[in-house]
Amino acid sequence: MILVFDSGIGGLGVVRQIRRDAPELPLIYLADNALYPYGEKSDEVLLARVVKLIGQAVQAWKPEAVVIACNTASTIALAALRQAYRVPFIGCVPPIKPAAAASQTRQLGLLATPATIRRPYLQDLLEKFADDCQVHSVGTALLADMAEAKFRGEAVDLAALEAAIVPMFMAGPTIDAVALGCTHYTFLLNELRVLYPSIMWFDPASAVARQTQAVVARQEFEPGGQQRAFFTAPVPDLAATKEAFSEYGFSDVVIAV
Ligand code: DGL
Repeated sequence: MILVFDSGIGGLGVVRQIRRDAPELPLIYLADNALYPYGEKSDEVLLARVVKLIGQAVQAWKPEAVVIACNTASTIALAALRQAYRVPFIGCVPPIKPAAAASQTRQLGLLATPATIRRPYLQDLLEKFADDCQVHSVGTALLADMAEAKFRGEAVDLAALEAAIVPMFMAGPTIDAVALGCTHYTFLLNELRVLYPSIMWFDPASAVARQTQAVVARQEFEPGGQQRAFFTAPVPDLAATKEAFSEYGFSDVVIAV
């Protein structure tokens, strides 16, 4: 079984891609909504939380691999997790590399949570893959909230979405490629494309799914077994959440406080 982890529903974008390419892989989803939004927590709080929670999950479910389908968690805790537990980890980091490779203007945009934007991990990525680019970033907690609300069935306010990201374009009018540095933003891709149709938007979900399949390619999985999703705090509407998660192949949603 593979454990897919995020602070909320963002990791479901990765789940969707895994299901598309490898529908037979057994998954458990863990959403740490008790501490959502991760993007507004301090590095110390997040590091301690993620290492502890994933440790408990690894012990309880003994997954063959763990996907940290969250940029905010990956950029702070991936190294510590790999050091602490022997299971293979697949991380998710802002797709700076493909965005820089595709950009003609060498002006990149980056949307992420406030926590991810200030991480040394991000600076390393930029130095490594986008050294000759100018990068215009917006760190906001608003977009993840919009994705969560959309998942609950609320309409996305396009004007509010545009207002949140327009500073990026004002700073860099010739931006042609934007990296989505938060897994929640997968669920706003349609709206982003409507607002800015000429921009190349880079979402890492399919790359993370491919990487997951590559890591577990040689492993045998027990067929059957319940594919369930776990939340660390109550959700606003459990019945609606169960129904929404069933569309991602999860037979039940459990609140495990
Ligand atoms: N999905 C998370 C990410 O990829 C962030 C959402 C949050 O702030 O909790 O960064």
